[in-house]
Amino acid sequence: MKMSKVENKKNFAYTAIFALSFVIVLFLVWFIYFKPASTAIYDWVEYLPFVNAGLNSLCATFLVLGYYFVKVKKVELHIKCMSSATVTSGLFLVSYLLYHHYHGDTKFIGQGLIRPTYFFILITHIILSVAMVPMVFITLWNAFTNKVEKHKKWARVTLPVWLYVSVTGVLIVAILKNFNY
Ligand code: HEM
Repeated sequence: MKMSKVENKKNFAYTAIFALSFVIVLFLVWFIYFKPASTAIYDWVEYLPFVNAGLNSLCATFLVLGYYFVKVKKVELHIKCMSSATVTSGLFLVSYLLYHHYHGDTKFIGQGLIRPTYFFILITHIILSVAMVPMVFITLWNAFTNKVEKHKKWARVTLPVWLYVSVTGVLIVAILKNFNY
């Protein structure tokens, strides 16, 4: 059966999104787990976890506001909030990579109940943040190409996953600052 032009365009867009997401995730795995950390020492690097937690909190706030605005039919404000959440997540990634470049891995030495709690949060955070990459692109692509029903279908899954990743990003910094001894 011959595929319609619209179907073709959709398949191409989804393939491009998955390919791009795969390249991004590969780059992150290399950067975080294989690239040696820099040996340079700068005082400002120690503040970056707070910047990261701030950007994640801001992102979660934009997501909640964006959801509220679409529910009260203020679509313009919904678009502004969701676009801001996307920019904030991008800035977080830059700041996180900068921190990792100068600081390297952070070992968790806390004991007791906090240990399994921390690793549960960390592992689910990592898995969902990888899954989130193509989900956010697809949700945005469907929104900007005016496929509202498709956008809503994806958005109902993307939104809670993205919120979980942002909130757990803040929790991870909070646990590392308060229980890592
Ligand atoms: C990745 C970022 C975004 C997320 C997570 C998101 C999330 C959502 C959610 C949860 C809904 C409501 C679904 C429901 O009714 O159950 C929705 C609806 C909608 N979104 Fe988004 N959105 C995003 C970006 C955008 C953008 C960039 C636009 C426009 C360019 C947009 C336009 C719309 C429209 C038009 C609706 C339907 C409003 C209605 O039913 O009247 N969204 N979105």
